[in-house]
Amino acid sequence: MKFFIDTANLDQIKEAQDLGILDGVTTNPSLMAKEGIKGIDAVMKHYADICAIVDGDISAEVVTTDFATMIEEGKKFAAINKNIVVKVPMIKDGIKAIKWFSDNGIRTNCTLIFSAGQALLAAKAGASYVSPFLGRIDDSGWDGMELIYQIRGLFDIQGYKTEILAASIRSALHIIKCAEAGADVCTSPLESILGLLKHPLTDIGLAKFLEDAKKFA
Ligand code: G3P
Repeated sequence: MKFFIDTANLDQIKEAQDLGILDGVTTNPSLMAKEGIKGIDAVMKHYADICAIVDGDISAEVVTTDFATMIEEGKKFAAINKNIVVKVPMIKDGIKAIKWFSDNGIRTNCTLIFSAGQALLAAKAGASYVSPFLGRIDDSGWDGMELIYQIRGLFDIQGYKTEILAASIRSALHIIKCAEAGADVCTSPLESILGLLKHPLTDIGLAKFLEDAKKFA
């Protein structure tokens, strides 16, 4: 499973990159706004800055909802760097745009996926990735992980090459469960990635080893 980080914060992206385990980055308009980025020039520069840190797929989300404008926006993002993947919302014009991008050699990530039918349609249109939002499904009392299993099953039976990019991750456990469910990618906040490091017995064991090491130093 590939590890992406879900943030537009450059320091966090650098920290994850320094770990040596990072395969890509996803952003969204909320994450960009959180960093105080304003105006199209600043947005374009920010994506270029992310591409300079990570040599992997970087999702850049369109902020329009009609076909023609999404195409123009996506073409501009794709021109920034070969690693840019245009993130397109799961709406009717979004599906048309994904098909256009796919036919014209531009990779896409279909976002805001909350059902298997949506994932199927995005895959059929030629999306490179689909992003089911696990945490938001869990938040509303449904089981987000069931959706990952369902999409995995559908794509395997139908032979779709579209990658399942599990998103809206809330914990280290979500990451482990995504790996078990066969997600191709998991995009997580830095905190959840670092959560994978933690176990109290590791801390206790290390403290003891370091104490004993003093005996033969
Ligand atoms: O980037 C899309 C997704 O990961 C958003 O997550 O935490 O806002 O539900 P969240």
